[in-house]
Amino acid sequence: MNNKRPGFGFSTRAIHHGYDPKDHHGALVPPIYLSATFAFPTAEYGAACFAGEASGHFYTRISNPTLALLESRMAALENGEAAVAFSSGMGAIAATFWTLLRPGDEVIVSQTLYGCTFALLHGIGEFGIKVRHVDLTDLAALQAALCPATRMIYCETPANPTLRLVDIAAVARLAHQQPNVTVVVDNTYCTPYLQRPLELGADVVVHSATKYLSGHGDITAGIAVSSHAIAQRIRLHGLKDLTGAVMSPQDAALLMRGLKTLALRMDRHCSNAQAVAEALQAHPAVQWVTYPGLASFPQYELAARQMKQSGGMIAFELKGGIDTGRRFMNALKLFTRAVSLGDAESLAQHPASMTHSTYTPEERAQHGISEGLVRLSVGLEDVADLLADVQQALGKCARAVARPTLLAAHAVK
Ligand SMILES: Cc1ncc(COP(=O)(O)O)c(C=O)c1O
Repeated sequence: MNNKRPGFGFSTRAIHHGYDPKDHHGALVPPIYLSATFAFPTAEYGAACFAGEASGHFYTRISNPTLALLESRMAALENGEAAVAFSSGMGAIAATFWTLLRPGDEVIVSQTLYGCTFALLHGIGEFGIKVRHVDLTDLAALQAALCPATRMIYCETPANPTLRLVDIAAVARLAHQQPNVTVVVDNTYCTPYLQRPLELGADVVVHSATKYLSGHGDITAGIAVSSHAIAQRIRLHGLKDLTGAVMSPQDAALLMRGLKTLALRMDRHCSNAQAVAEALQAHPAVQWVTYPGLASFPQYELAARQMKQSGGMIAFELKGGIDTGRRFMNALKLFTRAVSLGDAESLAQHPASMTHSTYTPEERAQHGISEGLVRLSVGLEDVADLLADVQQALGKCARAVARPTLLAAHAVK
């Protein structure tokens, strides 16, 4: 499909963008270029490649035809100019930080972030970069935190695991009143099918492509999407020299296979999650449920404006806190107890002791991650089976919550 015909819809681009079988012996599926290195026709051409004067592939850590196809497809889906592929989401995030920040700079980050991103921020703090956690739903707080040393604003929206949203357009507007501030959004929870931060004014989008983008839980991968100029810096500094976290061409092929069904899968993740969230909300054992598709969601209007649908992730807490939450997780028969998200299989995990155990208990309290929060990644199974599993597990919790109350009543007598 000709790159220069931008009019195609999302799924058409996800399936065809950047590839024409005519150029590859008619192969319907793009070939995988495994080669780590590429032959130079002349010594002069090789030197020109290294000087940045020729644009051919010469070493896979810097570029490779299979990675280049994936990158152009991801740029087309996020509506960016260019993308850089990484071996993990953390590789993409670390390379973006190391490329765009220097000692003495300040980075403003949203309150809640994936645990390893939070840990990485501690790490860059040790290299003289000041990290300020700010509630980005409070634009006055953001305005107050911005200063001449601010170089980046970084957020997840929805945040992992609280699902709190950031108004990307409002934050980008404020940030860009000041020169040299880059707005970076982790779009892992939504994918470009549900939300396109670059269209809302962000400068860089990062992904854990381990999740919905690949969708089958069989690779770790990451992507950064931006303008040509920023992508080139991330590639030639953050990827080539600072992290070396390059994606393998085989993983790029698996990721492109996942992208072909992204829209279909996201539709199903969203409708299944909506049903599970409503069932949780209606159950007496549940203390609270957070899901952007519930009218009770505190940022319901922003979710409707910024996201095409509500996503596949749910956060909730049971009456009785984490003890009941563990009972619920152990009672699940169809949901798998596992971290990660965005797979075909439905998953349940406990952030405080798993993905967000990089925070101290005090930091979790400060950043809005309650100890009893259970996170569900709702998969692609039949919704009736998912609801039956959740109901039977909740049934065990309801009895467990009721029992101490009865015992207490007996004790009084
Ligand atoms: C929101 C978010 N960003 C980034 C990452 C890191 O991605 P990876 O595990 O692919 O390194 C994760 C992983 O769970 C995540 O949930």
